Amino acid sequence: MADVWVKFEPDNARVGVPRGTLVLVAARRAGVPIESLCGGRGVCGKCLCRIVEGEIAEEGEQRAVLGAQYEAGLRLACQTRLLSDATVYVPQEARVSTPQILEQAAFSLGERAPQPAVRKVYVTLPRPSLSDPRGDLERLLDALREGGVAEPRCPHVRALRELPRLLRQADFAVTALLRENELLAVEPGETTSELYGIALDLGTTTVVGYLVDLRTGERLACASTLNDQVQFGDDVVSRISFAAQGAEQRRELQRAALSSANRVIEQACAQAKVVRERVSLATFVGNTCMSHLFWGIDPFALAQAPYTAAVQQGLEAPAGEVGLGIAPGALVRWLPNIAGWVGADTVGVILATGMHRSQDVWLAIDIGTNGEVVLGNRERLLACSCAAGPAFEGSQIRQGMRGAEGAVDHVDILDGSVTYTTIGGAPARGICGSGLVDAVASLRRAGLVDESGRLANEQTLADDVSPDLRARLVEIDGQPAFVIVSAEESALAEPVALTQRDVRQLQLAKGAIAAGVRILLDEAGLEPGDVRRVLLAGAFGWYIRQSSAAEIGLFPRELEERAEAVGNAAGAGAYLALVSEELFAEAQEIARRVTYIELAGRPEFDSAFAEAMLFSPGEREAG
Ligand code: FES
Repeated sequence: MADVWVKFEPDNARVGVPRGTLVLVAARRAGVPIESLCGGRGVCGKCLCRIVEGEIAEEGEQRAVLGAQYEAGLRLACQTRLLSDATVYVPQEARVSTPQILEQAAFSLGERAPQPAVRKVYVTLPRPSLSDPRGDLERLLDALREGGVAEPRCPHVRALRELPRLLRQADFAVTALLRENELLAVEPGETTSELYGIALDLGTTTVVGYLVDLRTGERLACASTLNDQVQFGDDVVSRISFAAQGAEQRRELQRAALSSANRVIEQACAQAKVVRERVSLATFVGNTCMSHLFWGIDPFALAQAPYTAAVQQGLEAPAGEVGLGIAPGALVRWLPNIAGWVGADTVGVILATGMHRSQDVWLAIDIGTNGEVVLGNRERLLACSCAAGPAFEGSQIRQGMRGAEGAVDHVDILDGSVTYTTIGGAPARGICGSGLVDAVASLRRAGLVDESGRLANEQTLADDVSPDLRARLVEIDGQPAFVIVSAEESALAEPVALTQRDVRQLQLAKGAIAAGVRILLDEAGLEPGDVRRVLLAGAFGWYIRQSSAAEIGLFPRELEERAEAVGNAAGAGAYLALVSEELFAEAQEIARRVTYIELAGRPEFDSAFAEAMLFSPGEREAG
């Protein structure tokens, strides 16, 4: 029984919850997703809502932290409990924003013909009679044998439950879905021309799916959505903390992963006019935490040294058991993980780029809510995970946001003035990862950020800095800041600016990645010049300017010309493993072959990190 009723405006959504429920949780139940980048720890300030009426209890020092916003009736939804019936207004800025989702990827089966794990065989069965009273299954297996299937068998009771009725309704003409000689499901009539599969990249923030005709390997549709788990926190650590609260919380996360994946499946099938029940195979990639949460496995050990996974090998189960909205007998499989913090998505990147077959040494960097780095070639592959934090996704940045409409995505400082672009050309609402990297790279070139990362001030400014740039150096919340978009031009009632703390956050993030690259190079006994290609995987790698990434030292400066964006390589890897059993086996081999380097256990990490936090000396351009 609900104790209190709360109404969320302007949605007019009402929900009943026990007295003492957090506003954030009540909103989630009412279907009004509120942004909670920090996972409800009360530190990101993104969940600000107005309590219009009702009695509440506050946690933490909200009055002191929020200042004028507190006086205006705003409260942190994650730190405010409902004690009576209430009305809460959720402003646009507090809502989960839909990011730009990267669907582009390089898919190449090369010379290979599609050879998926499942196939279909059409058979017509003799009707049972008093002289032929064989059981339905035996009759079906005999027909399959006669149809050329060697030693057919049915280890799954699920495939039998509807068999008697199905056979008779189909007049004993059916199509068997098989994995080698194993019967997975039976479909009425002749459906061999409809053999579909879906490759899914279950990211921490977004889910992307590619619907494929398994007979030809052709991609029929691509769909994407926000991972519903973002309402439980933006980063992997927040999800692990939420999951650690108990079995019900783990189920909530699992349901959120499944509902996001099902939405993608529905959209992709609608685009291609494919019936969902004809999708017979699904292959997933994602980080190790996502794979755990998808299967409902407690991920708490991922967050505690020595950061081990509950399972590294790829798991599989029938779709009907998992709750995935495709044919209930379809096979759902995950690619294997490499380690606790290097998951199946990295296996996908290696498989799709082919770096495990390359003679030359390549470096792959995949930056999402965490950063994974792989170095090597066909002889040896090394991988590490860099605790870059989610700064590149806009978290921990004062006005950071995901790459959604209104995010500043590119910044230039030329001839003493600032130009910028926003996603969708909308008025600026904040700054996303690519904008952050560009802004700091531009500030470096203009001499407004020094090697240690300190923003310039009146005392340190060079004489030839233009009046426009000078005027943009201000103080915000008691710290130096640089205004990128004026209050008049922004969608907010204030300028969009980069603070000293934001620059420090970027340094921490890029320092973690660059230190990871350095340690892998040392471990392999290589110098940066030995690397022939730098592959930037994922959305961040796609949208950033490589010159800015090199300028801030995300990877060695001398490799700028060898860097290229490879798109959603993890998703492309899932596609390859979906279409070809041979490549699926190759993915498993990759996971076994990669040597995982745990940076936390390396004595040289601290000094490499401290060094990598600094910016390299550069030529200042006159500003
Ligand atoms: S401050 Fe409430 S979710 Fe971050």
